[in-house]
Amino acid sequence: MKKVRKVIFPAAGFGTRFLPATKVIPKEMLAVVDKPIIQYGVEEALAAGCDQLIVITAHGKSAIEDHFDISHELETALEKRGKTELLELSRSISNMVQISYVRQKEAKGLGHAVLMAKDLVDDEPFAVILPDDVIDAPVPCLKQMIDVFEQVQSSILATQEVEGPAISSYGVLDGDPLVSNPRIIAVRGMVEKPKLEDAPSKNAIIGRYILTPKIFELLENLTPGAGGELQLTDGIKGLLKTEKVYGYSFEGTRYDAGDKLGMLMATVDFALKRKDLGPPFREYLKGLKL
Ligand code: UTP
Repeated sequence: MKKVRKVIFPAAGFGTRFLPATKVIPKEMLAVVDKPIIQYGVEEALAAGCDQLIVITAHGKSAIEDHFDISHELETALEKRGKTELLELSRSISNMVQISYVRQKEAKGLGHAVLMAKDLVDDEPFAVILPDDVIDAPVPCLKQMIDVFEQVQSSILATQEVEGPAISSYGVLDGDPLVSNPRIIAVRGMVEKPKLEDAPSKNAIIGRYILTPKIFELLENLTPGAGGELQLTDGIKGLLKTEKVYGYSFEGTRYDAGDKLGMLMATVDFALKRKDLGPPFREYLKGLKL
């Protein structure tokens, strides 16, 4: 039985929806409350038992590498000032995990970004976490998916039900839930960004995947689509021809933190849950004339 140990974090996109904030700062380093969104994803991967993390970076993204590295200057300053708690916090991030970085020289799409990790992943099933999808869940979303992978030993795409015209921003699954577990959907096909009336279901594909290594061969042979981009979903459509693929309707709340409204929602919800910030922030919100 194959185990999922490796996780790819594509982080080489331009983050245009967040300009001007992302002109210099990588989108993946924007914070929900006080933690960069990519750190939520890294913590989820570790909590799911994966310890080989690969971040796909690009020009201008070095803040991501610095974030997970030791900052001697900061640590010395905190030590001198006797700020032990903050010192521990800074050290805990650099001690958290060893990460490999691969450059994607041009932003040629999510499929192309995943392909950059081919040599590091080799012949193993692996996960992909899109850092801008921040998920708050009782059991980490990737852990839930790995539990399903251990039963089905096939590729799994995390899905979420999306109501109304918003479905047109997603890849949408066509398939049937399993009788034994309705959260698992046997996928027949997928439609990229359909009109509401053409959507085969409400099951939108979101930013968590477990994929078999066969995907690399398919991505290598894909013809680029619009804007010269290689779409990951086109590669997965290829997988469907020879392997089973499942959707998984995870338990938890997903925030699209790569989008301004999603980021605001995540910030409010995460802040309200914090022991230190929750009570005064709730009081503040109650006082707003909405
Ligand atoms: P998005 O489409 O959400 O990111 O891709 P983007 O292109 O950076 O954002 P906008 O739409 O312009 O605002 C999802 C993830 O895939 C990565 C992005 O960094 C993001 O984390 N990505 C996307 C790559 O690594 N390479 C690419 O060529 C495209």
